[in-house]
Amino acid sequence: MCNKKDIYILAIETSCDETAAAVVKNGTEVLSNIISSQIDLHKKYGGVVPEIASRKHIENINPVIEEAMQQAKCSFEQIDAIAVTYGPGLVGALLVGLSAAKGLAFALQKPLVGVHHIEGHISANYIDNPEFKPPFICLVASGGHSHLVYVKDYGEYEVLGHTRDDAAGEAFDKVARALGLTYPGGPQIDRLATKGDPESIHFPRAYLEEDSYDFSFSGLKSSVLNYLNQAKMKNEEINIPNIAASFQEAVTEVLVEKTIKAAKDKKVSKIAMAGGVAANQGLRKKMQKRCKEEGLQVQYPSLILCTDNAAMIGSAAYYEYKKGIRHQWDLNAIPGLKLGQ
Ligand code: KG4
Ligand code: ZN
Repeated sequence: MCNKKDIYILAIETSCDETAAAVVKNGTEVLSNIISSQIDLHKKYGGVVPEIASRKHIENINPVIEEAMQQAKCSFEQIDAIAVTYGPGLVGALLVGLSAAKGLAFALQKPLVGVHHIEGHISANYIDNPEFKPPFICLVASGGHSHLVYVKDYGEYEVLGHTRDDAAGEAFDKVARALGLTYPGGPQIDRLATKGDPESIHFPRAYLEEDSYDFSFSGLKSSVLNYLNQAKMKNEEINIPNIAASFQEAVTEVLVEKTIKAAKDKKVSKIAMAGGVAANQGLRKKMQKRCKEEGLQVQYPSLILCTDNAAMIGSAAYYEYKKGIRHQWDLNAIPGLKLGQ
């Protein structure tokens, strides 16, 4: 039940292929977290089709918001602010959530708080562990982004590096597709990797320049594709679990080592992970092992809060709201929104 000393935020997320709404109390307590996934619709195209995503968001947005409110046992009057992702993401998809949020905020005369999608992913870490506070280094790895972020304080970010080509999740999805697996391929590679030998095939690791925190996964992806083509030409047997395990090993090694290096360079003792790829069991294990060796604390969200959801947007919005951040009716969708912009 809603109790008025607390801050209740209704959050909306429609940046890609999930229509999501949540009610979050005081930034960390999730009263409802409704996610309507469109994965089955996009599966046959091997990836998200923007036009289909926008149309589906329009159909889903009102029922998803209603369900979030019902589950939270909250009335609209009790909500303190409406939060919404305004970028980065697919412009048509973002506009659906943004229009719904503006409409609600205007009709209810509640403040509107726009949230950066990556800030939402990072904030998912506060939900599962309210004791976990900045400063920390956050590895954000999803289908659209691979960022290494120095979180100095709530809402204060320094982007240390990002991908120069494919995002980590994109590499998982493209390799999975080449292996004949359906979209999204990340969870399937994760599962197959447990049955394979990660040292059976050596795929390249792109560490780039010595001091660089940037990532690059397209060379690795090409190397897997070449390996598959050559094996097919030579009529050699293709061991899919071994390829999945060796590919995953190459991706996660670079992600983990760069994150640890950033924590040491910035002299912070805490590491967090966020985004869909943070659900990867191999990545979690490797990060835990290396953090233990280096004496660093590691935190990652529960599986449901790693992939796109609105609870993480409600958490990020709480800290923005407390700082007095309010957006006006001219807030627009920004597909290429930079963190800290
Ligand atoms: O954060 P997210 O839901 O959407 C974006 O903001 O992009 O991330 C989706 C991405 C997809 O590329 C998916 O394959 C990947 O996260 N993913 C995984 C796993 N679960 C989801 N990648 C590796 N292992 C997983 N278990
Ligand atoms: Zn995301």
